Amino acid sequence: MVRARIICLLALALASLCCFAIRVAAQDLSIANSRMNISIAGYRGSSRPGYVGDSSCLSCHQKQGTSYQYTAHHMTSQLASEDSILGSFAKGSNILMISDPKTINIDPRLYFKLEMKDGKYYQTAIAERGPQTLTRSESIDIVIGSGVRGQTYLYWAGDKLYELPVSYWSKGHQWINSPGYRDGTANYGRHVDARCLECHATYIRAISTDLLTNIYDRTSLVTGISCETCHGAGADHIAREKSHSANPVKSNSSGILNPAKFDRDRQIDQCALCHNGTQREELIPAFSYLPGTPLDKYLGPNPVDTTDHPDVHGNQVGLFKRSRCYLSSPSMTCSTCHNVHAPERSAAAYSDRCLTCHQWESCGASKQEGNRIANNCIDCHMPLEQTNAIVSVTAGQILRTSMRNHWIKIYPIRALPSDALQ
Ligand code: HEC
Ligand code: HEC
Ligand code: HEC
Ligand code: HEC
Ligand code: HEC
Ligand code: HEC
Ligand code: HEC
Repeated sequence: MVRARIICLLALALASLCCFAIRVAAQDLSIANSRMNISIAGYRGSSRPGYVGDSSCLSCHQKQGTSYQYTAHHMTSQLASEDSILGSFAKGSNILMISDPKTINIDPRLYFKLEMKDGKYYQTAIAERGPQTLTRSESIDIVIGSGVRGQTYLYWAGDKLYELPVSYWSKGHQWINSPGYRDGTANYGRHVDARCLECHATYIRAISTDLLTNIYDRTSLVTGISCETCHGAGADHIAREKSHSANPVKSNSSGILNPAKFDRDRQIDQCALCHNGTQREELIPAFSYLPGTPLDKYLGPNPVDTTDHPDVHGNQVGLFKRSRCYLSSPSMTCSTCHNVHAPERSAAAYSDRCLTCHQWESCGASKQEGNRIANNCIDCHMPLEQTNAIVSVTAGQILRTSMRNHWIKIYPIRALPSDALQ
C-alpha cells in the first residue's frame, strides 16, 4: 500500500517533468494577471461571432453593470492573482497536511505546500519517507468559485486543463482537499470538461468534438459569467442602439434577448442551464445553448428530480418546481426573488418577496410567534440543509456545506437560530 503510493507519486513527479517542457513552450500564451487584461485577451482569441464582452454594455447600462461586477456570477471564475485566490500563501498557513493523523507514523509523510514565486502560484505535493523526498508542483492558473463557500483551482498542461488537488474553504479560511478527492493522496490527473466551464465561465473553445474532452484553445477563455451568457450576443444590439441615437427610427426589435419577455418555462430554463444539478447529460456541446429556447433539446432530464429527497446542491430549479407557490402562481419565476444584476441579499431580507403574495397572519405559526415571523419566513420555509454532493475529506475530517432548500413548504417545526427572529 505504502510502496504503491510512493511509486504512484513518483510517476506523477515524472509526468510533471514532461509537462514542464510543454509548459515552457506554452508560456508565451500565458495571459497577464490583471482583470483588465483578462477580458481583452479572452475576447481577442474567442472568435465567437457577435460577442463583445461586458465592458461594451457598461457605457449604456450602468444601472445593471455597476452592481453586476460584485456578483458571484461575475466572479465565479478568474485568472489566478493575489486578489482572486482567497487562500493564504503566508508562512504558517501555507501547508496542508493530508495524512490522517491517526496513521501518520505508518504512512509516508504527504503534504501540500502552497507557494507564490515570481508572480505565479503553485500547489506542490511533497512525500517524505526516511531520506526520500518526492515532489510534484503545478501552477494555479484558473480560479473557480467567487468564494461564497469556497474555491477550486485549475492548471494547464499545454492545452489540457486539469483540476488541482487543493481547494479553499471559506468558512474556516483554510486549505482543504478538493471535494471528492481521496484523503491522503495527491491526484493531479482529474480532467476538466467543458460543462464545468459552461457553468462557471462565459466561454472556452474545445479543440475536440468529444463532450468529455479537456483540450482547449487557451486564448479563447473568457472568465466569469457575463451579460451575454443570459442576453445572447450583443454586437447587433449595440450597432442598432448607436445608429438609433444618431438617427432615431422606431424599431420593434432591440437585437438583444430580454428574458423578461420569455414565457415562464423558458425563463426557468435559462437558470436551469446551471441550476438544475450537475447530472443532466449534455446532448450537444457546451456553450451552444441559446437563452429563450427549450433546454430539453440541449440537456437530458435530471434523474434526481424524480426522487423523494433530492440533494440541495446546485438544484434550485428542481426543488423550486415542487413548491405549491410555484405550481399555483403562473408567473412566479426565479426573478420573483432574485435580481441577478446585484449581489445576493441576506436570507431574511427575502421575506418581503413572500409578502407580495402572502400575509404573515395567514401563516400557521403566527398565532404562537406573533409578528416576529414577518421578518423571517425563510428559516422555516426554506431551511438551510447540508449537501452530500460536495464533501471534502481532509486529514480524516469531513467538511460539508449547506444550501437553502428551494422547495418552499411546511417543514417540521425546528428551533430557529436565536438571532433569526428579531
Ligand atoms: C449604445 C448604447 C447601448 C449599448 C452599448 C448597449 N445597450 Fe442595451 N439598450 C440600449 C437602449 C437605449 C435600450 C432600450 C432602452 C430600454 O428599454 O431601457 C437597450 C435595451 C436593452 C435590453 C432590453 C431589450 C428589450 O428588448 O427589452 C437588454 C436586455 C440590453 N439592452 C442588454 C444589453 C447588453 C447585454 C449589452 C452589451 C452586450 C448592451 N445592452 C449594450 C442601449 C445600449
Ligand atoms: C452559466 C451558468 C449560470 C446561469 C445561466 C445562471 N447561473 Fe446562477 N450561478 C451560477 C454559478 C456557477 C453560481 C455560483 C457562483 C459562485 O459563487 O462562484 C451561481 C450563483 C447564483 C446565486 C447565488 C449568488 C450568491 O451570491 O451566492 C443565485 C441567487 C443565482 N445564481 C441565481 C441565478 C438565476 C436566478 C439565474 C437565471 C436568471 C441564474 N442564476 C443563471 C451559474 C449560473
Ligand atoms: C451544472 C452546472 C455546474 C457544473 C457542471 C459545475 N458547477 Fe460548480 N457550482 C454550480 C452552482 C450552481 C454553484 C453554486 C452552489 C450551489 O448552488 O450548489 C456551484 C458552486 C461551486 C463552487 C463554490 C463556489 C463558491 O463561491 O462558493 C466551486 C468551487 C465549484 N462550483 C467548482 C466547480 C468545478 C471545479 C466544476 C467542474 C470540475 C464545477 N463546479 C462544475 C454549478 C456547476
Ligand atoms: C444570470 C443571467 C443574467 C446576467 C448574467 C445578466 N442578466 Fe440582464 N437580465 C436577466 C434577466 C432574467 C432579466 C429579466 C429580469 C426580469 O424579469 O425583470 C434581465 C433584464 C435585463 C435588462 C432589461 C431591464 C428591464 O428593466 O427591462 C437589461 C438592460 C439587462 N438585463 C442588462 C444586463 C447587463 C448590462 C448585464 C451585464 C452587466 C446583464 N444584464 C447580465 C438575466 C441576466
Ligand atoms: C408569486 C406569489 C407567491 C410568492 C412570491 C410566494 N408564494 Fe407561497 N404560495 C403561493 C400560492 C399561490 C400558494 C398556494 C396556496 C394554495 O394552494 O392555497 C403558496 C403556498 C405556500 C405555502 C404552503 C405550501 C404547502 O406545501 O402547503 C407556504 C408554506 C408558502 N407558500 C410560503 C411562502 C414563503 C415562505 C414565501 C417566500 C419565501 C412564498 N411562499 C412566496 C404564492 C406565492
Ligand atoms: C421565493 C423566493 C425565491 C425564489 C423564487 C428563488 N429563490 Fe433562490 N434563494 C432564495 C433565498 C431566500 C436564498 C438564500 C439567500 C441567502 O442565504 O442569503 C436563495 C439562495 C439561492 C442560491 C444560493 C445557493 C443556495 O441555495 O443557498 C441560488 C444559487 C439560488 N437561490 C438560485 C435560485 C434559482 C435558480 C431560482 C429559480 C429556480 C430561485 N433561486 C428561486 C429565495 C428564492
Ligand atoms: C417559526 C417558523 C415559521 C416562520 C418564521 C414562518 N412560518 Fe409559515 N408556517 C410555519 C408552520 C409550522 C406552518 C404550518 C402551521 C400549521 O399547519 O398549523 C406554517 C404555515 C404557513 C403557510 C400555509 C398556511 C396554510 O394554511 O396552508 C403559509 C402560506 C406560510 N406559513 C407563510 C409564511 C410566511 C409568508 C412567513 C413569513 C412572513 C412565514 N410563514 C413564517 C412556520 C413558520
